[in-house]
Amino acid sequence: MNAKRIAAERAVDYIDDNMVVGLGTGSTAYWAIKKLGQRVQSGLNISAIATSMKSEELARETGIKLVSFSDIGEIDITIDGADEVDKDFNLIKGGGGALLREKIVAASCKEFIVVVDESKMVKHLGEFPLPVEIVKFGYEITIKKLESLGCESHLRVKDDKVFITDNGNYIIDCHFGKIEDPKNLRNKISIIPGVVDSGLFVNMANRVIIGHQNGDVEEFEVDYKS
Ligand code: A5P
Repeated sequence: MNAKRIAAERAVDYIDDNMVVGLGTGSTAYWAIKKLGQRVQSGLNISAIATSMKSEELARETGIKLVSFSDIGEIDITIDGADEVDKDFNLIKGGGGALLREKIVAASCKEFIVVVDESKMVKHLGEFPLPVEIVKFGYEITIKKLESLGCESHLRVKDDKVFITDNGNYIIDCHFGKIEDPKNLRNKISIIPGVVDSGLFVNMANRVIIGHQNGDVEEFEVDYKS
C-alpha cells in the first residue's frame, strides 16, 4: 500500500467546489495534485496556487486552473507534505527545497492539511536536517551565524551543482540533532541577516493525515486555541 498516496488522497476529500487550494510540493503532495486533477476532469471547479514550479507544472498538466495572490482573497485549504512531524504537530519542511513558498502559502490559508506517511512521525524534530533558505550575498558569514546556534551545516548540492531554489537562493541543511524548542530555534534563525526563512513550521498545521503501510489512515485535527 502506498502510505503517502492514501494520506494525500484522503485530504483531497476536503476540497469542494469554488475553493482556492494551496498545492504543496514533494512526493506526497504529488498524489494530492494528481487526485485533484482527476476531480477537476470530472467537473470540480477550483483554482489553485502552487508552492513550486514543479507543482505548478504538474497542476497545469492535470488541468487545474492556476491563479496568483492578486486574483484571490484567501486560500481555503492547502495540502502539503512534511519531512518530520512532532507530537505537537510542528514540522520540518523543505527537503525538496520549496520551504519558502510553502510557508507563504501555509500562512495564507484557512486550513493547512499536512499529509505524511507514518515514517515522518517523530517525538522530537531534528533528526532530519533543518533546511534554511538564505540569500547568496554573504552566504559564508550567514552559515557561520547559523552554526553558532549549535548545528553542523552543509550548503545543499544537487547533481554536483549548488542547489538554487525557485526564488534564486541557497539552501543550508542544518544538523541540530534533537530540537527541544522549535519555536525558540525558529525565532533565533529568522533574525539572522541573510536568512530568508527556515523549514520550521511551528503551530501551523490544522489537520495532520497519516497514511500507514497496512492501508490505515489516521487523522488529527489540531486546535491551537485550547
Ligand atoms: C518540499 O520542499 C518539502 O517541504 C516537502 O513537502 C517535504 O520534503 C516532504 O516531501 P515528500 O512528500 O517527498 O516526502
